[in-house]
Amino acid sequence: MVSNRGDRFGTPLFEGSVKAMFLGGGELGKEMVIEAQRLGVETVVVDRYHNPPAAQLAHRSYTVDMKSKGILKALAYRERPDVIVPEIEALSTEALVELEEEGFDVIPSAKATRIAMDRFLMRRLAVEKAGVKTSRFAEANNLDELKDACEKVGYPCFVKARMSSGGLGSTLVKDKDGIASAYENSRKLARGSGEEMIVEAIVPFDLEVTELVLAHADGRVSLCRPVGHVRSGSHFHSSWQPFVQAGRGFQGFGSELHRAEDPPRGEMLWTSGWNGKDVPEELAARVENEIYDVAKRFVGSLPDSKNSRKKGIFGCELFVCLGDEAAGIEPSVYFNEASPRPHDTGMVTIVTQELSEMALHVRAILGLPVPKINLLTNGASHVILARKEAWAVKYGGVANSLSEENCRLLLFGKPLALPDRRMGLVIVPDDDVNEARSKACRVAHQLEAGIVYE
Ligand SMILES: Nc1ncnc2c1ncn2[C@@H]1O[C@H](COP(=O)(O)OP(=O)(O)OP(=O)(O)O)[C@@H](O)[C@H]1O
Ligand SMILES: [Mg+2]
Repeated sequence: MVSNRGDRFGTPLFEGSVKAMFLGGGELGKEMVIEAQRLGVETVVVDRYHNPPAAQLAHRSYTVDMKSKGILKALAYRERPDVIVPEIEALSTEALVELEEEGFDVIPSAKATRIAMDRFLMRRLAVEKAGVKTSRFAEANNLDELKDACEKVGYPCFVKARMSSGGLGSTLVKDKDGIASAYENSRKLARGSGEEMIVEAIVPFDLEVTELVLAHADGRVSLCRPVGHVRSGSHFHSSWQPFVQAGRGFQGFGSELHRAEDPPRGEMLWTSGWNGKDVPEELAARVENEIYDVAKRFVGSLPDSKNSRKKGIFGCELFVCLGDEAAGIEPSVYFNEASPRPHDTGMVTIVTQELSEMALHVRAILGLPVPKINLLTNGASHVILARKEAWAVKYGGVANSLSEENCRLLLFGKPLALPDRRMGLVIVPDDDVNEARSKACRVAHQLEAGIVYE
């Protein structure tokens, strides 16, 4: 319900408490629950499996099928939360739309959540309303249209299912012989309607950036310093803030550091021409401003909710090309997609910012002010991935890893390990981002090797 609490915060588990219901209880949800509980908020976590990280901390939790409209609505009626906070995409957006219609406060807004799930809607909004640059693309609604779309966009290209995430249903197509299997992959692995696909031209970027935009309840927006990352597959391995440091050797896509962090599984399609070079200060500043502009324009174009302004953190995924002055190539920033919630690459802010992206999200969704976003230190994060399937793994070598100076460790506490599943994160604060990346990479890889899977 739209809250009547005004500026009063009640006590959890008693009448008048402020209640947040999180849909999804992974590592981002866990940090959101911690931040909400610090403010005395009553927390309820809903997920599809028992005991996800956030449910281990919440006041109450439910294990249900979140794609079921009826179940989500029934839970909302039972709990009557002040805010409903989606943490994942795989849920019934229809339930969110109807709940918002009935007066519930859905974060950031039911429509924005719906758009972020749908590559067609997101692209159209980016191009037609926000007016930002994207990769060349074409839509397809069946195999014949897919063939035409691939020919039109050119090779190599990405074929992505209209509704999917985490790389599921996406295929790199090198020539027309790859179209049929890309079509099958999208149909089998995508969520929702796998017949519909988007074809995108490859952008040979120097690095990727997540721009975390905070939309305040009063309509203002604030920006975090851009978070840089590179990935060889579809999952993030390492992220750092700020995205480039003038005067320190650039380590972008295909660099030595990138290959150490995330060893490529096949041949890399390109490597950044800036690797090892210093990015001039003016160029870094110019690109940073462009990043802010693109992200603000996209977030500004997302619809508000029926009851209030859209609010919370948005993670805008951008591809950054630094250009080449000698060759007359201007730098450019492409919009890829956006999460209407904190972003996995943004977890580095747990250490680098005074208020992490999760703390910022919680403040904004409760209508609380954030006068200023402060970066306290530069730093980097690196994921700890499981290698195989196992129940309740044990982490060896933890004490040894923490004996390193300036090393922060998050173990998420996921009950089930799966190949490449993210189990934890190492975050290292350091003025020199490359040093932070190297250390986080070394320590995380040590911890990965120490996981006991019996
Ligand atoms: N057009 C493109 N050009 C170059 N690289 C791309 C392109 N599209 C996707 N990628 C690469 O693949 C990654 C995943 O793509 P995308 O963000 O579209 O998919 P996703 O399934 O939503 O992944 P996630 O849920 O991890 O964000 C990107 O971060 C980027 O590294
Ligand atoms: Mg993405």
